[in-house]
This record gives sequence, C-alpha cells and structure tokens, in this order.
Amino acid sequence: MLRVNDNFSLIPQSYLFSEIAKRVSDFQRANPEARIIRMGIGDVSRPLCPAAVEALHRAADHQADPATFHGYGPEQGYEFLRNAIARSDYHDRGIDITPDEIFISDGAKSDLGNIGDLFSTDCRVAVTDPVYPVYVDTNAMAGRAGRPDSASGSWDRIIYLPSTAENDFVPALPLQRPDIIYLCYPNNPTGTVLTRPQLAQWVEYALANSALILFDSAYESYITTPGIPHSIYEIEGARRCAIEFRSFSKTAGFTGMRLGYTVVPRELTGLTSDGTQVSIHQMWLRRQTTKFNGASYVVQRAAEALFTPEGKRQVAETIRYYMANASLLRQKLTEAGLKVYGGIDAPYLWVKTPDGYSSWEFFDILLSKYHIVVTPGAGFGPAGEGYVRLTAFSSAEATAAAASRLAEAKY
Ligand code: MLT
Repeated sequence: MLRVNDNFSLIPQSYLFSEIAKRVSDFQRANPEARIIRMGIGDVSRPLCPAAVEALHRAADHQADPATFHGYGPEQGYEFLRNAIARSDYHDRGIDITPDEIFISDGAKSDLGNIGDLFSTDCRVAVTDPVYPVYVDTNAMAGRAGRPDSASGSWDRIIYLPSTAENDFVPALPLQRPDIIYLCYPNNPTGTVLTRPQLAQWVEYALANSALILFDSAYESYITTPGIPHSIYEIEGARRCAIEFRSFSKTAGFTGMRLGYTVVPRELTGLTSDGTQVSIHQMWLRRQTTKFNGASYVVQRAAEALFTPEGKRQVAETIRYYMANASLLRQKLTEAGLKVYGGIDAPYLWVKTPDGYSSWEFFDILLSKYHIVVTPGAGFGPAGEGYVRLTAFSSAEATAAAASRLAEAKY
C-alpha cells in the first residue's frame, strides 16, 4: 500500500481561509436573501489599474504574432521586470539589491511555502503569534513543527513569539535559538508595524545567532507612517541574514493574476550536514529552475507597467482608497466601544472581541446576525484567540455599510 506523508494527518483538516469560505457558503445557501459583506480573506475588490490592463492587451497581441510570441520564459522571471523592481523598489530607495537577486514567481504564498525545500527538517522555526497560517502549516507538512496540541492549536517544535496588546504587538526576541524566523511587517493579521530600531534588533539577533529571517513584506505599500522600514534590506547587515518576499496581490490587485517575487541576496549561506558552506541563492535558483517554469509573460508585462509613472500613480490611488476604508472602520468601531488595532500602516484591523466571546463565537455572531465575514483570530495561532481580523479591501460602499452595521450592533 502506498505510504503517504504522515505530517498531513497532523495538520488541521482544512486551511483557515478554505474553512471560512465553506462556512460562508453554507450560510449563504441557507440564507439566500442575506447580503453578505466579505471582510475575511484579504482579497481585493478594485479592478486592475488602466496601466496594467493596457499592458495586458499589448502582451496578448505579442502572443498572437509569431514575431513576438513568447513560449517558456526564464524561470527566474523576465529581465524587464527584474530590472524594474530592482530600480523602483530598491535602488531608488537607496537599497542595494541587484536584478539577479530577484526571483519572480506566481505569488508570495507559493514562495513562502516552497522556500522550506531548502532547509533541513531539523531546523527550529520561530513565528510571531498570531501569524499568517501558511508559515506554520507548511513547516508542519515538512515535519519541522513537531506534534500539535489540539487544545491550544500550537506545535511543540515551533517557537512562538506572542504579539499581544500587552507588548504593543512587538514580540520579544526568542529565549530559545531558532534557525529560521518568520517576520511579516506590516503585520498580517494584527496590522501593526516595526520601527527601524525594532527591526534592526531582529537583524542583529539573526546575525549573532546565525539564524535566517524570512521577511514577508507583502503589505509594505500600505505604510503611511514616515520612517517605518518598507524592506528589511534598509537595515544594515540584513543582506547576510534575510530573504524578503513581496507580492503584487495587495499592491496592484493581482490576487487573480498571481505574481510575486522573492529576494535572495548572494551573501546568504547555509551548511550541509558535512559542514560544507553552500549558497542559498544557488539553492533557490536550482529549486526554481527544477520545479517552476516561470510566471506568465503577459502577467509579467502587466506588472512591468506598474513601475511606469502612470502605473505608480494609479497604484497609489488604489492604496489610498483601501486605506480610507481602513480609517473609516477604525473610527466607527472605536466609537462603538470596540478595541481596535492596526489599520494605519496596513489594510488589516485587529479587533478585540467584546464580552469575552471567543473568536469563532464572534465570527458566528457577525455572520449570522450582521452578515459580515471576518477572520477569527484563533485561526492565526494561540495568541489570536479573543480577536477577529477585518480587511479594508471591500468596496467603499460595502465598507461603509459594514461599519454602520458593526457600530450599531448589540452583541
Ligand atoms: C489573508 O487574508 O491573510 C491573505 O489574503 C491570504 C493570502 O494572501 O494568501
């Protein structure tokens, strides 16, 4: 009989957002008249910006003409896009990243899961808690997480770094030494950020402890507070201890287009079991060229257009639109007496459940009585219990309707 990967029997039966989608569709089937407002998964509602759409049309025409047709592309991504990213996202901000250190992919989620191929199953992993569930679930699949504790939802080989209201959602450095540290800032799900000195502490810790930081900065374009770092490479020494993951999903509405990129500096190294030092960049290149055939040509052309002056202006306008939603939600929920975090430098609001409700209880109340979908905090880890996450990605009209329903609600 075929033996399967036992680790899959240990992880929760369904992925957090699939579970929510199922509960919502069951509710909608039973209540077809309910006008549900979705603030659960961070999916965007605004269409692609005109610059991206025009580039898509042009690229489609290229694909129709034998003279300009593109088949398999470079696995690492087309140079035109890697050059645009290196220039706009790094060089122009005074950060030293070269195009050959950028790997284009079909999204940050895939890369965040796939990067685990490079590391030994013995590696100890640290995550902030609450945390984007992909980091934990993919390490559990690989056998790095140990055994789950069904009561708390935690794993015995994962080092959890609680981010709570008590520490202003800034986790303390680990007491036990991890090999790999996942950081996501602006944070999903709490919507909070790290200041430059706070991020510098992590870089210093990683360098001193030969740990690798996997830095997810999918939400960097939502930062509004001056001085907050957009990239970990703004911090001295980060090229020697960090990989950065970026996404076009939240920046430019590419959730349905699928495109992201990962920066792997050439300085990064690791050790094989016989003590040989190897390049992480070379390993990731080998992994990608073997298991990935490159992101679609037309989608990469659309992304290239985001870096033109017109594209940048249109993207900034969309981000302002979502942040106006975040600000309205923050204001209305706070006025209604709820304790609200985030929503200033991130499209997520982290809301304390009222009256001691658990996060799944509050999820059920909001869905059944107010027809609003949120994400229960417990789905993000033990320290997420007692909170729910709301996104600012709905339309302005739906956000205003949800804000009034939530503000007038009697829980
Ligand atoms: C979220 O809601 O946390 C994200 O949209 C999920 C994702 O990006 O995969």
